[in-house]
Parts: sequence; C-alpha cells; structure tokens
Amino acid sequence: MPFLSSSSSALTFLLLSSLHLPVIISLNPNPTICNDYATRLPSSSVPEPLVYDTALNPSPPPSSPDRPVLFRERNGWCPYSERAWLAFELKRVDYDTILIDNMGGRPSWYSGTTPQAMIEGDKITESLDIVKRIDAFKGQTENTPTLYPKDKDKNVDEVISLFKDVFPKFTRPSSRAAFLFRSGGMPVERKTFERTLYETDELLKKTDGHFFCGEEVTAADVAWAPFLERYAVQLPALHDGLRPRDEERWPNLSLWYKAMEEKVPAYPSRVQGDAESWRRVLMQQGFGNEAGFEKLLEAAADERGDSSSCWPMFAEGRQWLANSPREEAAARLLRNKGPIIADAIRNGGANCDSAEEALSGIISGLVDGVELKNSEEAVKLHTFLCERVCIPRDMGFLPARAMRDLK
Ligand SMILES: *[C@@H]1O[C@H](CO)[C@@H](O)[C@H](O)[C@H]1NC(C)=O
Repeated sequence: MPFLSSSSSALTFLLLSSLHLPVIISLNPNPTICNDYATRLPSSSVPEPLVYDTALNPSPPPSSPDRPVLFRERNGWCPYSERAWLAFELKRVDYDTILIDNMGGRPSWYSGTTPQAMIEGDKITESLDIVKRIDAFKGQTENTPTLYPKDKDKNVDEVISLFKDVFPKFTRPSSRAAFLFRSGGMPVERKTFERTLYETDELLKKTDGHFFCGEEVTAADVAWAPFLERYAVQLPALHDGLRPRDEERWPNLSLWYKAMEEKVPAYPSRVQGDAESWRRVLMQQGFGNEAGFEKLLEAAADERGDSSSCWPMFAEGRQWLANSPREEAAARLLRNKGPIIADAIRNGGANCDSAEEALSGIISGLVDGVELKNSEEAVKLHTFLCERVCIPRDMGFLPARAMRDLK
C-alpha cells in the first residue's frame, strides 16, 4: 500500500507512479504548516462518497445494498466508463464508485469489462443501458436533466445510433486511443476525420439548440461526449491544424463543446479530462503517431469554454466540496498530503520537510493568491504535480485548471 493516509478519500488521488514502488518512509512534517488551511477549508475533512480502488485493495468492496454502485475504469481513460460516470453525475445520484484496473489486472471477484453498474439488485453491463437505467432511477436528485425526455426519446436513440455511422470505421480497438488509429498503427487519414467532424456538425445544425437533441443535455450528448472530448485534443496532435473546435469549419460542433463546458456543471467540474492528460494518454499509447513527440506536446492549443458558473451549481449541497475550483484544488491537495509528499520524495521532487513547506506554498497560492514564486520549493513541487496529475482521475477539470494556472 503506497498510501500513508488512513482515510479512504486519499485513494481518490492517484499519482501516476503510485503502483510501481511501495514506499515506506517516516514523515516528520511540521504539523502546523497545513493545519491553518485545514480549518479554513472545512470541506477537506468532510467524508466523501465512497471511491474504492481495487488496484490498491483487491478484496471485495463493502457492499452497499441501498445505493447504486458504479464500476468504472480506474484511470479515467475508458470512454465507455466516462459515459456511465457522466450520467451518474448528471443525475446527482448518491452512489458508490468501484475503480477497476483494466491494465494491471482486474480483481478476481470481478468479471467482464468496464463499465458496469449494480442498480436495485440488477447488474448492468453496457454503458448506454446504464445511462438509461440511472435516468429512470427513483433515488436521483430532483431537478436534474432528463436524459431520455419522453417527447424526444426516439430521437435520442436515433442520434445515439448515428454515432456508429459517423465515427471512422475499421479503427484499432483501444480505450486509450479510441477511433484514432488503423490496425497497422497509422493514424486514421485526415480526410476521414474531416468527414466525421463535418457529419457531426451537420447533425448538430439540425437541432433547435446547441446540444445533440435540442436545448437540453440528453443521453445523446452523454454518448458522444467522451469521444468528441478526446478528439478535440488528440486530432491536432495527429494532423497538423486539424482542430475539431475550429469555429469556421465546424461552427455547431464548436458551440456544442462550449455548451457542454458552460451549461452542464458536472462535466467540467468532475468528469471532463484536460488537454495535458489526453495528450499524455495518447503518447503512452505510443504507436504509429505521425507527429513527433515534441509536436505532439505543442499541438492542440488549450481551448476551453467559460465554465465559471458551473462550480457553484456542482458543489451546491455537497459538503465535501469546496466553494470554488481554486479552493477545491487546495482541499484535494490537503486531503492527499501524505501520498503527495511521499510521491514527491520518492521521485526526488523535494525532500521531506521542504515538500511540506512547498505544499503549503501551493495551497496558499490557491487560497490566498500568494505568488508561487515566493517559494522555490513550491515552484518545484507545482511543476512536479502538474506533470504527475491525471485529469479526470485525480481531480476535476476546473480544480485542475486552477492548479495548473497558478503563477
Ligand atoms: C449553428 O451555428 C450557427 C453559426 O454559429 C449558428 O448561427 C446557429 O444558431 C447554430 N445552430 C444550432 C442549432 O446550434
């Protein structure tokens, strides 16, 4: 067990290297440094909904007969897991999460792929069946979007089914590089991607709003989002200048990205990944990329909508979340102080005492706007964390942005 903290919440913050080396160190941090902030960020000590990581704890999770359970891929890379996760979050259901490691071996008691859900005693194993079932679940919070609106449900299913026609055919199956490569390893040709983007744009043009089925988010958006999200970052890395968010070429697709980021609070607040992470996942995939390593890193300017109104809506009524993305980033760091310091030490980011100091430097940057450059150690740890963190695995897009944007 690499993690030092005894609280299960620490398990939600998983640094990339956490699986490779067990770490046993004795920390002797100055306990007063971060305590101040713990008091000022009370959400950081409120218990969170259960997120149980089977890679760290392979024994069966505690059963929760009353709540739905979502089994999803642990790194946040699997687009089908993202569909189910987004639906659970949109419906604001009280649920448990069990993380499954598709790369390092699933626990012996788990069979099948990800995602899966247990809802009222039924095991559901297909992402869109999960979306449909959770939409109808009685335990959801009121005033959440209806993913299959009665007057439009035929339309919703139809738009979902078009996905198969519009996305490139004969691509190499891969959850880390979905619909990107041919079986030989070469990227799908630019023209084929362009056709996909054109047809997606046409589909969006036909509706009476910015979403796939009109003015409100539905299951159609949930079904398409994980793939379009990755495309926005990954296509420019494969073909120079091929930007799905290009307003001139695909205006309605560009509006859809904005609508998802500006009008669907759960999406940018928790479920959406970020450019740095999707680029890194693509690099890890590591085969057949036409573009060189450096070009890949520079590609895909970080385009994003204005999500400022999303966080308050997402955090409302959830005591375990902080008041703003900046404070949430700080609270996440605070909750995971032990593992972060251990990780920083293990990887030579900083020595023990200064890592503690560095961490409080970052936190005061986030909470009080203190400039990072006041502490050399804080700058070092910040660079280290920005490279290490994986979004949405470790925190949501908005808190991650706040952390990455820190100067
Ligand atoms: C499609 O894009 C055009 C150009 O930005 C815009 O005027 C129109 O309202 C959009 N249509 C829909 C349905 O979003």
